[in-house]
Amino acid sequence: MHVARDTKMGDVVHHNHTILTIMLRFNIKLGFSDRTVDEVCDQHNVNTAFFLEIVNAFLDPHYFPSKHLRTFSVSLIIDYLLKTHYYYLTHKIPAIECMIEQLIKENQGESDLRLIRKFFKEYKDEFINHLKREDEVVFPYALKVESAAHNNEQHAYLVEQMTKYSMIDYLNEHDNIEEKLFDLKNILIKYIPPISNQALCIHIIDELFSLEKDLHDHSRIEEKVLGPKVMELEKQLLARSETTN
Ligand SMILES: [Fe+2]
Ligand SMILES: [Fe+2]
Repeated sequence: MHVARDTKMGDVVHHNHTILTIMLRFNIKLGFSDRTVDEVCDQHNVNTAFFLEIVNAFLDPHYFPSKHLRTFSVSLIIDYLLKTHYYYLTHKIPAIECMIEQLIKENQGESDLRLIRKFFKEYKDEFINHLKREDEVVFPYALKVESAAHNNEQHAYLVEQMTKYSMIDYLNEHDNIEEKLFDLKNILIKYIPPISNQALCIHIIDELFSLEKDLHDHSRIEEKVLGPKVMELEKQLLARSETTN
């Protein structure tokens, strides 16, 4: 399904309800009636064109209009990435953590399950550090670059900073946090003791697969949209500083 401006929002959800988690990040609320995507976006002050690209990229792994997505502003892209971080930290990670705790509580004698908790805790710490670095270092830097480039400002300090840290460094150091979920899924799928509450295990596995898919999409936006877009602006700033020197 390719979602367009005139597609009914309700039909999008009937087609793939996981899209609701994307809507949550845009602060779009349920109760669409028969309104189209355009009408619902308008109602919630959401940029329809941007919403459509994000939704279509999420629904179809082969559809990734990175060039088109790069036409949107850095601030709009970062706003979405920040909301996604918030969604992971306040919904996704606590939900998985809560289910793992439930699993341990129901099976007090199984020491192997505590290994899963330890593993998840290590993953969570790494995950939080990854997000924190982007929130506190990478995104503020990208916003400064955009502001300087658009306001035609001469920011000698920013050009100076680029020689020490720039977008290419971010792209080189950017960890593949979704791949690290594989080991956790593997323990649950292959090595967990035969406990009675299989439904809970399946629920955890389901959440881990869904987080993995979401993170894959998220990283694609960071690496294929935000990174190249900011690098292009850095080039403009460098060229400008060379002509004025
Ligand atoms: Fe991120
Ligand atoms: Fe990231």
